[in-house]
Amino acid sequence: MEAPEIFIPISLESIEPVIFPDVALYIKTGSNHVLYKSHGRDFSYHDHERLSNNGVEFVFVSKDDMDVITSHMEESAERLLKSDILNSRAKGKMIYQTSINFVDDMFSNPDKTTDLERTKRLIENLMLYLSENPDAIGSLETVMSHNYHTFVHSLQVTSLTLMMHSEAYTLSRDEMLDVGSGAILHDFGKIFVPPEILGKNGKLNDSEIEILKRHPEDGYTFLKNKGVLSPVSLTIVRLHHERCNGSGYPLGLEYRDIPRSAQITGVADIYCTLTTDNQGNKTIPPHIAVQLMRNQMKELFAPNLLDTLEKLVCTEEVQQFIL
Ligand SMILES: [Fe+2]
Repeated sequence: MEAPEIFIPISLESIEPVIFPDVALYIKTGSNHVLYKSHGRDFSYHDHERLSNNGVEFVFVSKDDMDVITSHMEESAERLLKSDILNSRAKGKMIYQTSINFVDDMFSNPDKTTDLERTKRLIENLMLYLSENPDAIGSLETVMSHNYHTFVHSLQVTSLTLMMHSEAYTLSRDEMLDVGSGAILHDFGKIFVPPEILGKNGKLNDSEIEILKRHPEDGYTFLKNKGVLSPVSLTIVRLHHERCNGSGYPLGLEYRDIPRSAQITGVADIYCTLTTDNQGNKTIPPHIAVQLMRNQMKELFAPNLLDTLEKLVCTEEVQQFIL
């Protein structure tokens, strides 16, 4: 029997008509994927408009076509970000989609993690978008469905980590690229966690938790052996679950021994986990999440980092976005 075709959702707003690679596009009706445009036919501005007017947010492509789509989107990203063709929201969708494709690609093809130039190009484009859109934090919305949770989450954590660094510290461009590269791969070690544990509905038992807790060290060891990531990026991968009171893992380090970039990624990681569920839905509003981190997770995070987080996420625009 033939294996069922796997479809990947692509946000409609991230698609540039006419020059988008010539692949078959599908739309979802109920639980079926229906062919919208076959290979060999252009996807025109008219098509784009028609779908958009009909409230279509995602089109679907075959997983086999993802390579060509990912390279196209990565190649076009910088040009589109700098142009006026797309409005700020569409630019956000485009950069998020590009980043998610990237993380998906890295997680499915671990050998590609040696392409550091590609990682840096992506982080650079993400930084460009974040720096030109002061309210970008408000649009850290999910663009994917639940099976993409890890990828969407990696991207949200990266965006917030970069923004917290630029809000509170002065880093050189290269340092920011290192921080971003580490943040986008922070959960890379999850490729070593069995899918039945990662995707388990309900509580994990003790032995499953132990396995899950190996992901920072496993990711670090794998990426270190690849020999391309900088020490800062590797530190983020390894230490993003360390906590100020020493209760974290894998090393149980205390506040002063946890590098700042790993602490910030840890704060961003928990904040994004609290505010978005596994299905990609918003859960609790930003100010409640920050309050929770201050009160119920009191000794886990440095108070000055929580101040920075609060300053970024508890703005009026973000409140409006949530309501
Ligand atoms: Fe993690």
